[in-house]
Amino acid sequence: MQTFRDVLISTEQALLQGDVFCGHGYVDCHDEAVALVLAAAGRDPESGTEILGQFVDDDSLRTLSDFLDQRIQGRVPTAYIIGRAALGGLSFRCDKRALVPRSPLMAVVLDDYRPWFQGAVPRRILDVCCGGGSLGLLAAFHEPDSEVFLMDLDEQALDLAWLNLKDHRLPNAFCLRADLMTALASGTADIILANPPYVDVLDMNSLPPEYQHEPKVALAAGEDGLDLVHPLLQQAERVLAPGGVLFLEVGNSAPALEQAYPDLAFTWLALESGGHGVCAIGKRELGFLRTTT
Ligand SMILES: C[S@@+](CC[C@H](N)C(=O)[O-])C[C@H]1O[C@@H](n2cnc3c(N)ncnc32)[C@H](O)[C@@H]1O
Repeated sequence: MQTFRDVLISTEQALLQGDVFCGHGYVDCHDEAVALVLAAAGRDPESGTEILGQFVDDDSLRTLSDFLDQRIQGRVPTAYIIGRAALGGLSFRCDKRALVPRSPLMAVVLDDYRPWFQGAVPRRILDVCCGGGSLGLLAAFHEPDSEVFLMDLDEQALDLAWLNLKDHRLPNAFCLRADLMTALASGTADIILANPPYVDVLDMNSLPPEYQHEPKVALAAGEDGLDLVHPLLQQAERVLAPGGVLFLEVGNSAPALEQAYPDLAFTWLALESGGHGVCAIGKRELGFLRTTT
């Protein structure tokens, strides 16, 4: 009979030897091993060290063996295997309909959008390109007095967002199928959280195999990764209320963005949760787009 301690050690070893890529919500193989073992055994993902000396039954070991096959041979991200992902302390359903939640914009939500947003409580928050809805739902949970729209063009992703919304029973959150923000009236949002597809052609061709399991529409964004960002900036200027702020994640496409808009003063954020290529831009700063187009 093997204990949880034994199984955790051997699972971490298998992941390390399998040379899996850990970039989908887990920091390393230890972290992934804990998630896979606990899910296979049907234990609480928050279980503590008290379980280390307990025995793992045969059914759980068989399930774990299947999980490891998917993870190592199939290169499926752990969140898709166990069907759950965590962000900002909340747990979400997670499957191939949408990207695995991991946006560093989560830290912006937990910090109440400060110091960039200087109003009181944001009246309306948009989660543009919401995928499975994790960011917007975190925003709605964190600030019950804000109205939050989860918006995506992809019906599959939005279906998943809807299920997550039902699970979390947040009366202040709503799902909306939309091409970016074209459906929204001018001056109606205080905060825009935007995590559009932003991977350029070069990066798309060199992504680890784990990314092949994610929807391409959630990642690929043309030659320089900015296909969606250009219309998004234009629309943000229109949709933001005075004092409103756009928080935009563009990852590795940050240099291309700066090059495309040399007159726009980008504030790149150093976030506690790590991540890079996240900026804050106020409505006022975006105003110049009206005069240059
Ligand atoms: C990077 S993923 C978003 C991940 C999500 N924010 C999260 O944290 O899990 C980008 C999303 O943009 C959506 N998308 C692509 N083109 C779009 C468009 N024109 N309008 C709205 N959403 C779009 C994709 O369906 C995908 O769900």
